[in-house]
Amino acid sequence: MNVLFIASEMEPYAKSGGLADVVAALPKALKSLGVKVKVVIPLYSSIKYDRYSLKKIMPGACVHMGICEEWYDVHHTNVPHGVDVYFVEFQKYFNRPGYYHDSGGEYKDSAFRFSFLSRAAMQIAKDLKFKPDIVHLHDWQTAIAAYYIKKRYDPFFSGTKSFLTLHNVGYQGVYDRIALRYAMIDEWDFTPDTFEAFGHINLLKGGISFADKITTVSPTYAEEILGHVGANGLHVYINRRRNDLHGILNGVDTSIWNPETDDYIPARFNAKGYKKGKKLNKAALQKNFNLTVTPDVPIFAFIGRFAEQKGLHLLQPIIRPILNDMICQFIVLGSGDPSLERFFGELPAFSPGNAGSYIGYNENLAHLIEAGSDFFVMPSIYEPCGLNQMYSHIYGTLPVVRSIGGLNDTVEQYNEKNGDGNGFKFNDISSSALYYTIGWAVSTYYDRKTHIRKMIKNAMARDYSWEKSAEKYLSLYKM
Ligand code: ADP
Ligand code: GLC
Repeated sequence: MNVLFIASEMEPYAKSGGLADVVAALPKALKSLGVKVKVVIPLYSSIKYDRYSLKKIMPGACVHMGICEEWYDVHHTNVPHGVDVYFVEFQKYFNRPGYYHDSGGEYKDSAFRFSFLSRAAMQIAKDLKFKPDIVHLHDWQTAIAAYYIKKRYDPFFSGTKSFLTLHNVGYQGVYDRIALRYAMIDEWDFTPDTFEAFGHINLLKGGISFADKITTVSPTYAEEILGHVGANGLHVYINRRRNDLHGILNGVDTSIWNPETDDYIPARFNAKGYKKGKKLNKAALQKNFNLTVTPDVPIFAFIGRFAEQKGLHLLQPIIRPILNDMICQFIVLGSGDPSLERFFGELPAFSPGNAGSYIGYNENLAHLIEAGSDFFVMPSIYEPCGLNQMYSHIYGTLPVVRSIGGLNDTVEQYNEKNGDGNGFKFNDISSSALYYTIGWAVSTYYDRKTHIRKMIKNAMARDYSWEKSAEKYLSLYKM
């Protein structure tokens, strides 16, 4: 079985969110099941060429885009984890400060950029004589390749099927129709049933109509996107494909996220010795954020993009009351919306010793926070899968989440009678629901310590290895 992944991000080369983690981990897991996987991503200018020992292997490769000929170079890395990764170097599109936007706003030519990436990736497979059984596509950026496969533009791919994984239907890649010709979308395929949406090109919508199979990253999200709200307007089109739609929960790359082997944390630990390990990491975390160093006060944490999806606007109005009313500490790590950055950036000054924040992206801190906190807050408005609640479980940190999407599939509600469960869930999109659920966690921390211990054991016992999910993908590939 040959599988070609085409994606816009892959950890550790280029990452803006969980998509990059999945594009790195799933090929590795498939490889261990005997699948031959090659991954193609752009060579963004931010990728550290020497650090990853990239080598130029195909100078002057060429692909036709509409009436243009585009010439690009292909680079390759030394097969990390046994998976071949190819990088498309094309200055005009990828030599920019961001992947999709920069301080000047969104890149308006991304339909050009990513249709080119998709075509170039297929050309690379052809030049390498790597005939894929499956081309596995991710989100709006590469969804259009499903169309290229379906249209049989190239007989080399006549035996190839396309798989589109929906990591986030909130982002659809909507661009001016001026890109139609370049992206090689025929006028008669530019209809409301396929690529067209209100006169614009909707890349994700096109991918959904042409992909042979569609997967998404949790069973609950697979149901949610059949509805109007979850699908962000695409429910009619996703419903048409419901027989080809499957929800497969993401896994966790335990070579990166594992408290027993984690290089970023001062004290490694496992489920047996978690108390000592967490205590040491908690003290290190408190020092790092200038919080009062004490093992007896619960730490709540948030890590993520400051975007509407993550529900930080639910936390914003209550975080000061929480710090006033409850004996707890709070740490926030992330960036995004400037007004939220300002607000959370000022939090430590509001409650010195109890509140810490870091505005920006910091992988090391993310590990320390997971290892040293007691609770992890994810009040997401929607969450296709979510990775941090799974990292939290593995690190013995109990999630406080809205019960939607992948959060619903991974977090089991705390049962106050017997201490069952592995986290705290609430339903309503409201600050008060979040406030009371955090209060519930705080009171459980102080009043029902045996339940907390039981939940931590439950959490750490969960198996999040990618193997199970990769097996599900493999059986779908074979269908
Ligand atoms: P999404 O892809 O929607 O952003 P996920 O939960 O799937 O959400 O994945 C987010 C990933 O990005 C996680 O690995 C998380 O730890 C990481 N992450 C997000 N923001 C930051 C940050 N500021 N610093 C470090 N890691 C971050
Ligand atoms: C998206 C989703 C997130 C998911 C990730 C990886 O960015 O927002 O919930 O975990 O993709 O699939």
